[in-house]
Amino acid sequence: MHQLLENLWEDYLTLTPDAKRIHDLFATNGETIVNDHIALRTFNRGAIALDAIAEYLAQFGYKAVDEYHFEAKKLRAYHFEVPTDLDAPKIFVSELLLEEMPQAVQDICEGLIAEAEQAIAEKGLSLPMMPWRTISAGEYELLLKHSEYAAWLATFGLRANHFTVSVNHLTQLASLEAVNELLKEKSFALNVSGGEIKGSEEVALKQSSTMANLVKWSFSDRELTIRSCFYEFAERFNIPGTDQQYRGFVAASADKIFESTNVAAA
Ligand code: NI
Repeated sequence: MHQLLENLWEDYLTLTPDAKRIHDLFATNGETIVNDHIALRTFNRGAIALDAIAEYLAQFGYKAVDEYHFEAKKLRAYHFEVPTDLDAPKIFVSELLLEEMPQAVQDICEGLIAEAEQAIAEKGLSLPMMPWRTISAGEYELLLKHSEYAAWLATFGLRANHFTVSVNHLTQLASLEAVNELLKEKSFALNVSGGEIKGSEEVALKQSSTMANLVKWSFSDRELTIRSCFYEFAERFNIPGTDQQYRGFVAASADKIFESTNVAAA
């Protein structure tokens, strides 16, 4: 399990220089960083479907705990935990419901999925993994028109879309508000879709995130500047009326967090 998390982290840092900078900034402030969760994206087909990923994660002790639906974005998701090690970072995996996408999106994605099926038949599934060809800039632009999620996934493959710092485990920065202030002071751009802070103490979870890094990406035919991955921050509270900390996710907040990779966002 630790090797899996390490591999996902190293791969994520190659696309997310801001995460490294923020990680180092916190470390300089005397913090030891604990991850709340890691998020991945996939398509709802065959060897890479959410249920196949669930089977893969089971070998590391991860079990699906809760299911989530995002109607507008056409997504279904599970959050996974290690029941024997509740301090292990949770893993949040969502899948795009391809049959709900326009035919042109399905056509491109079905081709990529066929390549993934073949790669996994030969080498097995492992994460992180880029199981298909580099798409063209035109394909990216077409996918983007219909689904930012599909465009991101087709471009980057099966890898961490974000890591999330557990604010509860920080010792110097006492709240999510304090984390956000420090980030803004250091000129990091925060995702303001749905407000800088998503959620509240009433729903027992507050989240914020940076905007995904802008990277010059070499598509098969030409380069485009696009958004890669982002860094998220989560502060958890007790379930109202109990002394038990909430371990799940809030769909309305996650819906806005997805927009951290929106190209158009400033
Ligand atoms: Ni997240």
